[in-house]
Amino acid sequence: MSWTVVYDALAATYDAGTAGTWQANRHVAEVLRPQALRPARVLDLGAGTGQTAAMLRALYPDAALTLVDPSAAMLALAPEKVPGARTFVADAESFLRDTDGSWDLVAAVGFLELVPDLDRVLGLAAARVAPGGHLVVSHEPLLDDGSVQSRPVSVVGGAQHVHRRPRTHVEDVARSCGLLRTASLEAPAFVRSGEGEGDAVYEYVLWHRPAAPAP
Ligand SMILES: C[S@@+](CC[C@H](N)C(=O)[O-])C[C@H]1O[C@@H](n2cnc3c(N)ncnc32)[C@H](O)[C@@H]1O
Repeated sequence: MSWTVVYDALAATYDAGTAGTWQANRHVAEVLRPQALRPARVLDLGAGTGQTAAMLRALYPDAALTLVDPSAAMLALAPEKVPGARTFVADAESFLRDTDGSWDLVAAVGFLELVPDLDRVLGLAAARVAPGGHLVVSHEPLLDDGSVQSRPVSVVGGAQHVHRRPRTHVEDVARSCGLLRTASLEAPAFVRSGEGEGDAVYEYVLWHRPAAPAP
């Protein structure tokens, strides 16, 4: 079963089920807020039911929002949170391959651990960041603490895979795409449901693409 099937099934209860427990967007806001960015165009990949987009709209009320998610059922719940946003039912990789758009802020929150090839998705996302723009992500870093998070891959709920990469690897990928780290934070995103499995600790990172030099 793919993650899309899982999220299609979860959609109806997702917002109630994550209320007060899914902390990723709060932490992404903590990273973004002090930067006082003023993006005109914001792309939200893995938008789900619009929780990330609602946070982004609160920070950037004048920005045009584009939301992308492969789960039609999740994405159908987003427009009521962010009226006027454009929505696309697609996985991040397909959308990014097909678009020739660029954005002042690209967000990828809560799904990079679900994709088998983070390098490819991160590279494609970085390529759509306009000069002077930013990319903000969450990812589940590989830890060295003997916890569940010390495994590069976990199989959950049957056949779904969660992938973890070293922080240094993610940074190297971003840097190789011409992005420079602006700010970051590490904090729990949620408490895992398995007994004794503890917090899922995410890294939240904001990078920027330097503005093009004046001709
Ligand atoms: C944990 S939810 C996060 C949703 C939202 N960003 C939030 O914070 O509430 C993960 C979302 O990632 C989506 N997703 C799964 N695989 C994806 C992919 N390859 N590309 C883009 N989104 C994906 C799922 O459909 C789901 O809506």
